[in-house]
Amino acid sequence: MTTQQKQPGILKAVRGTRDLLPPETALWNRVEAVAREVFGRYGFGEIRTPLFEVTELFARGVGEETDIVSKEMYTWEDRARAQSEKAQSLTLRPENTAGVVRSYIEHKLGERGDLQKLFYIGPQFRRERPQRGRYRQFWQIGCEVLGPQSSGSESPVRDAEVLEMLATLLDELGVRGWRLELNSVGSSDDRKRYNVALREALEPVKAQMCEDNQRRAETNPLRVLDSKEAADQEIINALPKIADFLDDSSREHFAAVRAALDACGVAYTVNPRLVRGLDYYTRTTFEFTVPDGSGLGTQNALLGGGRYDGLSEMLGGPKAPGIGFAIGEDRLILVLQEQEGSKSVDAPHPEWMWAKKLDAYIAPMGVERNAAALALARELRQAGLSVEVGDGTFRLKKSFEAADKAARHIVILGEDEVASGTATVKTFASGEQAKVEREKLIEYLRKPD
Ligand code: HAM
Repeated sequence: MTTQQKQPGILKAVRGTRDLLPPETALWNRVEAVAREVFGRYGFGEIRTPLFEVTELFARGVGEETDIVSKEMYTWEDRARAQSEKAQSLTLRPENTAGVVRSYIEHKLGERGDLQKLFYIGPQFRRERPQRGRYRQFWQIGCEVLGPQSSGSESPVRDAEVLEMLATLLDELGVRGWRLELNSVGSSDDRKRYNVALREALEPVKAQMCEDNQRRAETNPLRVLDSKEAADQEIINALPKIADFLDDSSREHFAAVRAALDACGVAYTVNPRLVRGLDYYTRTTFEFTVPDGSGLGTQNALLGGGRYDGLSEMLGGPKAPGIGFAIGEDRLILVLQEQEGSKSVDAPHPEWMWAKKLDAYIAPMGVERNAAALALARELRQAGLSVEVGDGTFRLKKSFEAADKAARHIVILGEDEVASGTATVKTFASGEQAKVEREKLIEYLRKPD
């Protein structure tokens, strides 16, 4: 076959990316609206940072040796377009904490003196192996709390408040069965000492481990603790625990976080292996997980976060201790959809989970009534009702079927109705049918079923 005869191929979304379509996007919007509302109640303001940044930001902030930076980033050499420009290496953001802290430094937000409480909702990019709950473009809903030490940014109260807010958010979203796993990875000095101990403990056993873990044992032994490699679990469980390497101040900090959580009644489990896959973490780290069978396949981390007291300095900024988290929004949606469909749980989801029907479907009888139908739709929509308009070429049966799918009422507009200033309205839920005067129509359609 010559190239000319070839049928053009169908173009598809890139592997690991996907289209979000109605009605599912309505659920995304509602989740985001609940998140915005909750964040507002806790005094957070929105930050929007660029989708791409200089590569060095992530190399320095997230860490060269992490999986994210060493193998998952979308990086390209951006050529100079003019003499005034320099070629530079750019990267699609794989996460947003480094970008937020870059922005905090660039805009001297620390000089405002108070605590900065910022939230974001947006896409992130990682070249991971796609599977259920794991995509190459995915969405995060995140928060960062940071500021100079004098703003109280280092206080354990901040950690507990962020965790309590997450518990509230997940409850208000109707997520069931979530669990908070908590750990402290200590200060960077604690981690240095722990790293030495880990290296020593790994030395005699690393040859028995998988290739990835052998490499990690050399380059970044902490990462061995994240490993899901089944055959290596026994060795990993026997390794020294970070808790035994915390200095007094890290230990006291962690105890105060736990005491504040206890006081608020937020339940948690301490997981000594929770070190998280990014290098900027200090002290508190956490993940919220959902039980197996919640729709995430093998991924059970709904969100993750922690404290990053040295990140600002790593990026050349002033001291600005901070703590934050990012929820995987794709995963959150999968969980809500799965739990909504599950018959085994009796607590109902909040009402907003359910797709809402339109208030009315206007069915013009004959094309001569199309214009009048559109004019009526304009009037009803201006009054705040949600309305769809059919077409005069449709047979009555087709109009009824379309209306039943989309709306609570069908409003039939025939020659008689137009002439007498009325409409025939059928309410699907009750089966009731009535002739309604035009002046009373809005009120009639507003009535709950
Ligand atoms: P992370 O653990 O890398 O942390 O990501 C947070 C959440 O994003 C994960 O728990 C997961 O739900 C979701 N996520 C990560 N990768 C994917 C993926 N490929 N597909 C779908 N969802 C994914 C961070 O990104 C930190 N910046 C969080 C943070 C904020 N720490 C402090 N402040």
